[in-house]
Amino acid sequence: MQATVAYFSVSGKNEQMAKAIDRELREKGHSTELVYLKPARAMGVISAVFRSVFSRSVELAEHYTVSDGELLVLVGPVWASSVNPVTREFLAQLSDLGGKRVINLVCGFSPHENVVREINKQLKAHGAGKIVSRAVRLRDIDSPDKMAAVAADAVSQAVS
Ligand SMILES: Cc1cc2nc3c(=O)[nH]c(=O)nc-3n(C[C@H](O)[C@H](O)[C@H](O)COP(=O)(O)O)c2cc1C
Repeated sequence: MQATVAYFSVSGKNEQMAKAIDRELREKGHSTELVYLKPARAMGVISAVFRSVFSRSVELAEHYTVSDGELLVLVGPVWASSVNPVTREFLAQLSDLGGKRVINLVCGFSPHENVVREINKQLKAHGAGKIVSRAVRLRDIDSPDKMAAVAADAVSQAVS
């Protein structure tokens, strides 16, 4: 299977999670492309909270396209109990997924299932096929074993 692993991260936790998924996919013989979703400009905390709370997106450094592969992996943080503006803009720019499988991981101090559901809804609206999603706690990312277990579980469900 060919996969695009797209992530947004400021302090590195979501990057670690995305790389754990990327590693797991490669170990299982899949080919991957790791893509960092970069905002055009750095966001201050006030702007980050404001945009998240009021469902605003933010300009990205480029227009990101998802490869023709069979799997999209999306990893990003919850901000202010909402979808962060970078993930929101990436979702808005997505072209039709044509039934592609998706792994959607939303990371935060506590699990925010509402954010997972909102992203899943948008993924479905863009033509996603099977979606495997998780609200991941940051403390699980801090434990290499737990992070690897989250990655292994998500990948095995997505590719089965
Ligand atoms: C502006 C802002 C708002 C946040 N709001 C929440 C929140 O509502 N709930 C939560 O569990 N974590 C919240 N967090 C924690 C982030 O989810 C956490 O910083 C992120 O997942 C770590 O990502 P990174 O290291 O990849 O940047 C917030 C972080 C920031 C910067």
